[in-house]
Amino acid sequence: MHKTVQMRPALLILASVALAGLMALAGIADDVAAMSAGEQKSAAPQASPNPFAGDRAAITEGADLFGRNCQQCHSTGGIGGKCPQLIYGAWGPGGANSDELMFRIISEGRANTQMGAFKDALSQDEIWKIITYLRYEAQRYEQRKKAEDEEDDSLRR
Ligand code: HEC
Repeated sequence: MHKTVQMRPALLILASVALAGLMALAGIADDVAAMSAGEQKSAAPQASPNPFAGDRAAITEGADLFGRNCQQCHSTGGIGGKCPQLIYGAWGPGGANSDELMFRIISEGRANTQMGAFKDALSQDEIWKIITYLRYEAQRYEQRKKAEDEEDDSLRR
């Protein structure tokens, strides 16, 4: 009797260590499952599912496709005007809006807005190329902004 009472805390610690271990393992299993499912479920911007990410030729083709399909509303280089801009803030590289989300919006459109669905007009590859181009414009925007900020700083000195 006396013995079991003393054993309990040790058993509890052992049990919780085992539980933590199991939970960690389950977490890893989830990650592996998400990875093999093409990262479709992950909301965080991780490795892009875009098969053309950073591809120079895709940037050029994407620019052409953007010019013919999107520019009339989203303006040159996606800087926006009457319609939302697509290159800074949440749309920037590593921003809150993942490539998957962008793909879905372009493919399905936004209900009850001027943003139509492009899944019939454009192939999946074409949509990815447009995204590749917009990510490139986003980088250029970042660089421009950085240069401007540095110039401001030097003027203030
Ligand atoms: C006829 C005008 C029009 C055309 C053409 C158009 N869009 Fe849009 N787009 C819009 C409008 C308006 C919205 C905002 C919809 C809303 O209120 O949620 C939008 C939203 C978006 C968004 C979501 C932006 C955000 O901040 O929520 C993306 C991404 C986008 N468009 C990409 C494209 C791409 C890529 C093309 C070309 C393949 C394109 N759009 C063509 C009008 C257009």
